[in-house]
Amino acid sequence: MASRATELLVSFIEELPDAPAHDLDGALEIARTYREAAPGRGRGIDEVLARVSAAAEKGFNTAGPGYLAYIPGGGLFAAALADYLSLGLNRYVGVWNAAPALAQIEATVIRWLCDLHDYPVEARGILTSGGSMANFSAIVAARRALLPEDFLAGTLYGSSQLHASVSKAAVLAGFPARNVRSVATTPDLRIDVAALERMIEKDRAAGLRPFLLAANAGSTNTGAVDPLRECAEVAAREGLWLHVDGAYGGFFQLTDRGRQAFAGIDAADSITLDPHKGLFLPYGTGCLLVRDGPRLREAHQVAAAYLQDLAPEDEIPNFADSSPELSRDFRGLRVWLPVMLHGMDAFRAALDEKLDLTRLLYDALADTPGFEVPWAPQMTVVAFRYRPREGDPEAFNRALLERINASRRVFLSSTTIEDRFVLRACIVSHRTHLDRIEEAIDIIRTAAVDLEASA
Ligand SMILES: Cc1ncc(COP(=O)(O)O)c(C=O)c1O
Repeated sequence: MASRATELLVSFIEELPDAPAHDLDGALEIARTYREAAPGRGRGIDEVLARVSAAAEKGFNTAGPGYLAYIPGGGLFAAALADYLSLGLNRYVGVWNAAPALAQIEATVIRWLCDLHDYPVEARGILTSGGSMANFSAIVAARRALLPEDFLAGTLYGSSQLHASVSKAAVLAGFPARNVRSVATTPDLRIDVAALERMIEKDRAAGLRPFLLAANAGSTNTGAVDPLRECAEVAAREGLWLHVDGAYGGFFQLTDRGRQAFAGIDAADSITLDPHKGLFLPYGTGCLLVRDGPRLREAHQVAAAYLQDLAPEDEIPNFADSSPELSRDFRGLRVWLPVMLHGMDAFRAALDEKLDLTRLLYDALADTPGFEVPWAPQMTVVAFRYRPREGDPEAFNRALLERINASRRVFLSSTTIEDRFVLRACIVSHRTHLDRIEEAIDIIRTAAVDLEASA
């Protein structure tokens, strides 16, 4: 069975460069054929795998080199091997003495990430299902550390470019949505620190309790990086918890350019990272690091009599005490195995390559008459639009996006920034290289010329 599944995967991966960047033709009809009752008797492996393969054929080709929409989720094959092993072994790593060396593997992964951010020995972390859950636990930890049990006066701050998962996390953590303050940005889409300070002062005067500042280490819209050192200074002065959302951009810390952009990140109280973005892993692995580790545990730990036989945290942490989850998959191996196999240098080089490709795309569009590329990339997102000679710019750019994506060689998405409809390309898949970006440039330019000609 394992060999058959491997054959399927190998041919899927080998075909990725030629596979369409998205294909939804007839997808709903195919999806409907999977609405079925559970079979009484089992089927053969070939029949079952054929159905998996057919189901995987339709959709966004998120693992392919042309996928530049939203934030690509990679899909490193070594991580699939890790999951195969960890699910087969099925050891439990939430409490260290259930599988000490395997729990240590996960703790070691977290230590690597703490070291990457110059976090002290007492720092702790958890691997989560993604950035959204990491942001959630960060807010819960900050709330517990800084606010009383009656916390509804607590207010949170972030720029207008903050990811929606932070507001969602605040609401899930019990805050009214209005307590999440959206701070204006400077023209480069970084938080306006003076505006932030004014807002905090006004809220304090109104009897509210500012307690958390969430800063971007790579925004989703354009990859904007907030001035982290200044944010840390404001947080220290105002007694706020500084949380850095590096779900998209965080792993660029591995590169010199990223480290420069994130100067001051070591002063953050907590950092969200998404190995399923910047480490090219398949969907399902996020991470939260907390500088003062005990604060993470204090926010999540609840005693239970039926767990009394299990050892308390020792030199290896009990992840279940620092996370909302008790039973869960062994995410540590999914990070550890690819890093052991490829080495961190390979990840650093791949991320550097993405930064170079982004610059290339940005320069090419900026040099093409008719294109507006308002924000120089700080990470690996290029947001752009075409200025048509006549007609409604938004309608033109919607049509442009459709035309680009109709190539099926690349797949881009759009967003709205400061009331402007823009297209965006995010280059963060380990399978996206120079050939595909050069092709993307051709496709984008040709689509604009053709559309202008047909208008
Ligand atoms: C900046 C940022 N924060 C948080 C998230 C949410 O992460 P996830 O989708 O892993 O839950 C994303 C997702 O794209 C993101 O770009």
